[in-house]
Amino acid sequence: MNLKEALKDVLREEELKILRRGFEIIGDVAILEIPEELESRKHIITEAVLKAHRHLKTVLRKKGEVSGIYRVASYEVLHGGETETIAKEFGCRYRVDPTRVYFSSRLSSERDRIARIAEDGENILVMFAGVGPYAILLARRKDVKVIGVEINPVACRYFKENVKMNRVEEKVEVICGDVRDVVPSLGKRFDRIIMPSPFIAEDYVYLLPGVVKKGGAVHYYTIAGEEEEGELSSRVEDKFRDEGMEVETVFWRRVGSYAPRVNRYVVDVRVLEVRESKNFYTF
Ligand SMILES: C[S@@+](CC[C@H](N)C(=O)[O-])C[C@H]1O[C@@H](n2cnc3c(N)ncnc32)[C@H](O)[C@@H]1O
Repeated sequence: MNLKEALKDVLREEELKILRRGFEIIGDVAILEIPEELESRKHIITEAVLKAHRHLKTVLRKKGEVSGIYRVASYEVLHGGETETIAKEFGCRYRVDPTRVYFSSRLSSERDRIARIAEDGENILVMFAGVGPYAILLARRKDVKVIGVEINPVACRYFKENVKMNRVEEKVEVICGDVRDVVPSLGKRFDRIIMPSPFIAEDYVYLLPGVVKKGGAVHYYTIAGEEEEGELSSRVEDKFRDEGMEVETVFWRRVGSYAPRVNRYVVDVRVLEVRESKNFYTF
């Protein structure tokens, strides 16, 4: 049941119109977006959500967008108070506190897609790895070796715990640090590299020539307006060319909306040629 349906007997029609339909549930924590105009109605809205989802222990109200390098939003507690929870996705479990680290259950189908196309035997690098949802699902599904790099120390702590909880210690290595320092020191090349941070991925493409295999795959995330969709893949190919790689786009799609007519996109590219490796290793 969406939020508007749950509230149709409680809010007036004009109030329903300004309420967002969707809300996010992470484990037993719900995250609502309630506009300022409905400030006086927030407790009624909370009650309706608790009635519709009886397992919830905490209800949070998101104040503003995720921000800062750790990509965390600020929240108002509307009900409960314990914000650490366990999210379940495709048989994996992730301990996470959405008030301290980034986690979005809305990206689960994208993680599923990548875990399906990865192949046994691959060496995989996940930049901006968060609490580990890409790395861990890949390791659970396929016979792969994964390195995940994350800068937020709290996310790193959860990532390490989640690796143990999902019993993939033999397959996943967690490295806490800045990809700018960590990636050049890895000393190996990868068959697949995932860059799941759409606002900053473009600033780190320069790291790829030193670590991607010729023929390797890169999953590149970005934000763009709908009117830019037609030129999205050529823009990404140009960006990679500027950084010394010839690539071809093999797939792209929207992976969620960010604002009206502005979306998150993934562009999958195959690396055909690495012309110059300013950094690090030769083939
Ligand atoms: C949008 S979140 C994605 C997290 C994770 N991939 C997921 O989907 O749940 C981006 C993550 O990148 C991390 N990050 C930002 N800059 C970084 C850097 N220079 N090196 C490593 N991690 C970084 C942030 O702390 C944050 O956890």
